[in-house]
Amino acid sequence: MLYSEKVFDHFRNPRNLGKIEDADGIGEVGNAKCGDIMKMYLKISDGIITDVKFNTFGCGSAIATSSMATEMIKGKSVADALTLSNQAVVEALDGLPAHKIHCSVLAEEAVKAAVKDYYDKNGIAYDPEQFKENDCEGCEK
Ligand code: FES
Repeated sequence: MLYSEKVFDHFRNPRNLGKIEDADGIGEVGNAKCGDIMKMYLKISDGIITDVKFNTFGCGSAIATSSMATEMIKGKSVADALTLSNQAVVEALDGLPAHKIHCSVLAEEAVKAAVKDYYDKNGIAYDPEQFKENDCEGCEK
């Protein structure tokens, strides 16, 4: 089978779908190749992500990976969220077909973009290295 049960589950019943009106950090990323867009909203209190929502205008794998990514960072510290890799999200979903790995990169980048927005808005210093582009290991180029 091409997609795991978990991918189907998160695609059919996405967790944390929607928008946070008074979000502390918002990240929007897009994939130039497929044109898909993902938006991530974070509510942060004392360095902890207390709420997270997302909106994805994209394929099923993008929806499933963003849904799983929100579950993986909710309740975690901002620093922990920054270490979330697309590979970890893919593993949590029991895998994705090779040509769909790039969709999971969008989820990682959306989380990072939202954290960066939070840092910028609050004047928190950070190492730009933490936000360098994911070179999409495992992606079919
Ligand atoms: Fe574009 Fe999946 S095909 S994110």
